[in-house]
Amino acid sequence: MNDILGDWKRTHYCGHLSAADIGREVCLMGWVMRRRDHGGLIFIDLRDREGIVQLALDPDRDPEAHAKADRVRNEFVVAARGMVSRRPEGTVNPRMTTGEVEIEVRELRILNTAKTPPFMIDEFGEVAENIRLKHRFLDLRRPALQQNLMLRHRVARTVRTYLDGQGFLEIETPVLTKSTPEGARDYLVPSRVNPGTFYALPQSPQLFKQLLMVSGFDRYCQIVKCFRDEDLRADRQPEFTQIDCEMSFVNRDDVLAVMEGMIATVFREALGVEVQLPMQRMTYAEAMERFGVDNPDLRFGLELRDISAIVDGCGFKVFTDALAGGGLVKAMNAKGCAGFSRKEMDDLTDFVKIYGAKGLAYVKVTEDGWQSPIAKFFDAETMAEIDKTLGSAPGDLLLFSADTFRVANESLGRLRVHLGNKLGLTRKDEFRFVWVTDFPLLEWDGETRRHVAVHHPFTAPMDEDVPLLDTDPGKARAKAYDLVLNGSEIGGGSIRIHDQAVQSKMFNLMGIGAEEAREKFGFLLDALEFGAPPHGGIAFGLDRLVMILTGSDSIRDVIAFPKTQKATCLMSEAPGVVDEKQLRELSIRLATRPK
Ligand code: AMO
Ligand code: AMP
Repeated sequence: MNDILGDWKRTHYCGHLSAADIGREVCLMGWVMRRRDHGGLIFIDLRDREGIVQLALDPDRDPEAHAKADRVRNEFVVAARGMVSRRPEGTVNPRMTTGEVEIEVRELRILNTAKTPPFMIDEFGEVAENIRLKHRFLDLRRPALQQNLMLRHRVARTVRTYLDGQGFLEIETPVLTKSTPEGARDYLVPSRVNPGTFYALPQSPQLFKQLLMVSGFDRYCQIVKCFRDEDLRADRQPEFTQIDCEMSFVNRDDVLAVMEGMIATVFREALGVEVQLPMQRMTYAEAMERFGVDNPDLRFGLELRDISAIVDGCGFKVFTDALAGGGLVKAMNAKGCAGFSRKEMDDLTDFVKIYGAKGLAYVKVTEDGWQSPIAKFFDAETMAEIDKTLGSAPGDLLLFSADTFRVANESLGRLRVHLGNKLGLTRKDEFRFVWVTDFPLLEWDGETRRHVAVHHPFTAPMDEDVPLLDTDPGKARAKAYDLVLNGSEIGGGSIRIHDQAVQSKMFNLMGIGAEEAREKFGFLLDALEFGAPPHGGIAFGLDRLVMILTGSDSIRDVIAFPKTQKATCLMSEAPGVVDEKQLRELSIRLATRPK
């Protein structure tokens, strides 16, 4: 047996050493990040998960170790024994935490060699992401990614400890299950023993956590993988992790209070940041009115205004047509942006078109009044009224969107965030939380011509809006809430329907017949008839939360083995083809041959 380690035991992590350790004998193990030859003296930057320390090998002091160091290449795995010493005057590196010290190496062991990596594993390389994802195990050696995953671990640990302290029980729910309606497509798994049938991977544990309340567990939590086959974006993955919670005998404020405490604890432990409690709240209606979106970024102003009443009857057909069609005109004052170039204006127009806007009318405010292709359509009084509403001053740029409620709000709301970033108004170390409440319960889907649940079909209507279910269901509001942090929805939940009659009415409104409801979630409907307590809950997106805590731009930077925008894993090459025999066993015949 070749025990390469022998009696060597690691005594320290590289990154933990400092001037306080000078004179200490240490044994380190890690990867060679860089080797430099200084005319005889060899320096090696040794890396482990806690950081980097410099090894110094002197041919006069230890010829044998030095000779081995000469053979070492990047990413070799080595063990070194030696003494921590102070670096010579002038060679201190203040950018490294271990920059005051180096290890005078007495003995070196090469534990393993490594091929030349496909890219340099340092912090500064601009390597294409697809190459990094293909060799994810190497990319994960980068200190930044290691720190992200270590922070993720600490967040999960803090969450568990906090929830345990609040009486929550962590209970696992099935992964091979039936469809749970969260609005995305399901990932399906064929059943071999029941030919022609499929399990669905859970989009969330929603149904099961409600059942656990019926069973009397009272407070449930789970850090759990969820699966959604939806279009991916920078903050979405097909499999992601929720911090999922459910509570019995509570109302909305009870849920929010416990969860605010959890988030504040996470920020304190992970970042040392104190979150002001209670957190701000805003109704959905107010968020739409002021920000055009239901996930407002409150780190900056640039608020929207509805100027429909002011421009009603003006001479600009784009505006009056939108109003005549039941739409509205929203406006935003981009403070100090009157100097935007032609190209910048075109870019803004292209940007709003992504959200369905037909154009973007604008006004440059100057000392001499409005400079704009649309100025001619307005009389002095209307212009003054718009200026007053938007608080405009010379140097400002006024932007307008005239369209349906959805398009006008969304296009200008997204443009607001785009401008906030472009103008440098968003700081990554500023954290603005807001609970968005009182969401609409239902939304009309023109395509299928029926109502769909805005949150999910088990969300309770607000008590005062229950009568609306019979008269004007589109107006009913839900006992639903989202937690928004810096414009990102990090969590969402609701108080649930615990009354079978209301649940049936909801299904009716959504055009889900009794039979379909029974087939899809019969077990939940049954449970509601066997003593369901009043209950409610929430789920946070752990990945999104960690993304913000680490200041990452992509959700992939906080997941060990993430998927691409096309839902593939470049490293394992999932999804992959399967052989005929496997398909036969599953009673599956392919209509399309994989490429
Ligand atoms: P919801 O669908 O709002 O609610 O999901 C909760 C939170 O999960 C995160 N999230 C995602 N993160 C990464 N990638 C995705 N594809 C993705 N989809 C959602 C978001 C979101 O706020 N069962 C309900 C919760 C409840 O009512 O208790 C649910 O799943 O941060
Ligand atoms: P037009 O009359 O089409 O030349 O448009 C005049 C200005 O109004 C241009 O700047 C367009 O970008 C803008 N515009 C067109 N449609 C809309 C709309 N729905 N909302 C806001 N501005 C628009």
